[in-house]
Amino acid sequence: MINVSVIGAGTMGNGIAHVFAQNGFKVNLVDISQEQLDKAFSTISKNLDRQIAKAALTEDVKRLTLLNLTTSTSIAEGVKNAELIVEAATESIDLKLKIFQQLDEFAPADCILATNTSSISITKIAASTKRPGWVIGMHFMNPVPVMKLVEIINGYATSEEVTGKIVDLSKTLGKVPCVVNDYPGFIANRILMPMINEAIYSLYESVAGVEEIDTVMKLGMAHPMGPLQLADFIGLDVCLSILNVLHEGFGNQKFAPCPLLVNMVNAGFKGVKSGEGFYKYTAESKKLVVSDRFK
Ligand SMILES: NC(=O)c1ccc[n+]([C@@H]2O[C@H](COP(=O)([O-])OP(=O)(O)OC[C@H]3O[C@@H](n4cnc5c(N)ncnc54)[C@H](O)[C@@H]3O)[C@@H](O)[C@H]2O)c1
Repeated sequence: MINVSVIGAGTMGNGIAHVFAQNGFKVNLVDISQEQLDKAFSTISKNLDRQIAKAALTEDVKRLTLLNLTTSTSIAEGVKNAELIVEAATESIDLKLKIFQQLDEFAPADCILATNTSSISITKIAASTKRPGWVIGMHFMNPVPVMKLVEIINGYATSEEVTGKIVDLSKTLGKVPCVVNDYPGFIANRILMPMINEAIYSLYESVAGVEEIDTVMKLGMAHPMGPLQLADFIGLDVCLSILNVLHEGFGNQKFAPCPLLVNMVNAGFKGVKSGEGFYKYTAESKKLVVSDRFK
């Protein structure tokens, strides 16, 4: 497998394109927005420079990586020679179903269609194509060049041959693949999101403050980041939407999102991306400062 197309050039798409290109694959990065494609190219270039500064990479590898990258604003054009497509467009079921119908139409018949979705059913996406056996979840973690895990999700109809190929390919990228089945939240979010939700409930019920909750989990459980800081980093809107998927998918009250989380998202407090969540973020300082609302 040589030719890979990545659909969506946002946070995840640029990281996925970076990792494939650095490992010798020809990558066509596709987005509806030329601005996003330009931004992705410059992000990849800066991230490569950071690796060079740490002596983890040579200038030559950077040059070859960038040579492996092309961009396109057309799906039809961008996937016509692909052997693998990794879709990393905006998390919306309607959008993904539409994109997968296009991929099915324009990609070669033997091309594997993977999605990086965090929460949408792989089985449902696969069923919108004429090749459900060739559709699979390839869930990279953010930041992609740094994080080792790829959660590989078998849809109900995914063929064993395809799973085997994606496992081998993930190892070629220097990642550690873990194969799981397609149920709401897969494994990563099914376990992570209830923990984050419980941390928010603990704050909501005044069991402890923001710093105390995060410190208990950091120093007591050796987590590199506390659950409230992690929620801010992921985006509180994203956490809410995944909890809703779990709640609806299992019909179990234990996944019901905390009302404080719902309020914060409705009020536009989404974490790092909006400048404030459980902590306050400013361009000037990297110091972690608890939001005034929780002091
Ligand atoms: N951000 C994370 O931490 C994270 C982690 C794991 C998985 N994911 C998943 O990865 C996917 C992408 O998330 P993100 O955070 O990179 O989103 P993002 O908003 O940063 O980027 C999405 C990109 O998709 C593009 N796009 C929208 N419609 C398109 C179309 N029709 N064709 C091509 N491109 C289109 C947008 O222009 C944008 O550049 C989602 O499915 C998300 O659930 C995100």
